[in-house]
Amino acid sequence: MASMLLIGVTIMLYLTSISAQPAPGCPTHCGDVEIPYPLSRGKTRVLNHISTCCYDPNTRGMGPYLWWLDFSRWPYRFSNLDNNFIVIGCNTLAYIYNKYNRTGYTTACASVCGSPSALTNSSCLGVGCCQNAIPKGLTRYDVYFYKVYNDSDSWRNPCSYAALVETESFSFSSDYITTKRFNETYQGRQPMVLDWAIGNVTCELARNMSSYACRHRNSECVDSANGPGYLCNCSNGYEGNPYLPDGCRGEFKSLLCCPFIFSSYTRILNAEFSGNLSKGWY
Ligand SMILES: *[C@@H]1O[C@H](CO)[C@@H](O)[C@H](O)[C@H]1NC(C)=O
Ligand SMILES: *[C@@H]1O[C@H](CO)[C@@H](O)[C@H](O)[C@H]1NC(C)=O
Ligand SMILES: *[C@@H]1O[C@H](CO)[C@@H](O)[C@H](O)[C@H]1NC(C)=O
Ligand SMILES: *[C@@H]1O[C@H](CO)[C@@H](O)[C@H](O)[C@H]1NC(C)=O
Ligand SMILES: *[C@@H]1O[C@H](CO)[C@@H](O)[C@H](O)[C@H]1NC(C)=O
Ligand SMILES: *[C@@H]1O[C@H](CO)[C@@H](O)[C@H](O)[C@H]1NC(C)=O
Ligand SMILES: *[C@@H]1O[C@H](CO)[C@@H](O)[C@H](O)[C@H]1NC(C)=O
Ligand SMILES: *[C@@H]1O[C@H](CO)[C@@H](O)[C@H](O)[C@H]1NC(C)=O
Repeated sequence: MASMLLIGVTIMLYLTSISAQPAPGCPTHCGDVEIPYPLSRGKTRVLNHISTCCYDPNTRGMGPYLWWLDFSRWPYRFSNLDNNFIVIGCNTLAYIYNKYNRTGYTTACASVCGSPSALTNSSCLGVGCCQNAIPKGLTRYDVYFYKVYNDSDSWRNPCSYAALVETESFSFSSDYITTKRFNETYQGRQPMVLDWAIGNVTCELARNMSSYACRHRNSECVDSANGPGYLCNCSNGYEGNPYLPDGCRGEFKSLLCCPFIFSSYTRILNAEFSGNLSKGWY
């Protein structure tokens, strides 16, 4: 591996909301457990930074902007079912890994493109675009671009991109290679889905804890499908907010505090997360 020289820039990342604020009066805490919006399916959608690697004609070298994100001290993990690691570019090889556990997870994605006509919209199979699934329980990722060679073809944009993105909303377009649209659509970010869970134990153990969150009527515990922890769910036939007393109801939905939580998971997550954007050369 090439040695790296990094100029670290620590920034506080405000994962920006894609839609509205939570309704006023809706509790955001349950005991000492913070309840992010939405709660219904334990998922939330945020905008996450794209890592880029661009050819710099002044230095005639590649200049990467590398993004990492660490949720190991938050109740979030990257959704393995809803996200893919995607790499866009020509002659690009990018890695995703956990800096603190390289043996735990590392994978790479390679993308080539011979000519504009080789690019196919909606196809991310290694020509202009490459994608890989991520494992369950991932709470931190780092990105690394392997410099294949200093490169700038006249017909294309001289940048490569790597990001964890929501699979459902992502569709490769040939103009992601020839323009900056992929980076510009959300100002250097792309939608990503986080799974959320309470604590780090299974329902079986949590039931005996004073912090157990699913104690209300018609509320039941479900083990997280992505890493440790659990979620509350309304029992069969009931709907609503399982974290509130009498939040799970069989009828009279209009009495619920937060009917908006049913709509979708494209909701706000306005917490502060620490991330680290490094600029460097490989
Ligand atoms: C950010 O990353 C750089 C390079 O890896 C490192 O030197 C610096 O300590 C990091 N900052 C934080 C707050 O982790
Ligand atoms: C890329 O360009 C840099 C800066 O000019 C140079 O130091 C490096 O050796 C080049 N690498 C390759 C693989 O051409
Ligand atoms: C690294 O990842 C592996 C596989 O997920 C896991 O078994 C191991 O406990 C992790 N090690 C650390 C220090 O987190
Ligand atoms: C792909 O879609 C983009 C945007 O709609 C369009 O500009 C481009 O011509 C399409 N490319 C191909 C190869 O069809
Ligand atoms: C991507 O967009 C961000 C935000 O607009 C900008 O700061 C950054 O320079 C862009 N990167 C590239 C490679 O265009
Ligand atoms: C679970 O969380 C508790 C409290 O945050 C912590 O003390 C404990 O070490 C964690 N256990 C594991 C296995 O991570
Ligand atoms: C939970 O508590 C009950 C009563 O105190 C006890 O009988 C049971 O073994 C405990 N279960 C676990 C998993 O600790
Ligand atoms: C939650 O409850 C609903 C309604 O009872 C049910 O359809 C759904 O499968 C449950 N979810 C999980 C993860 O068990």
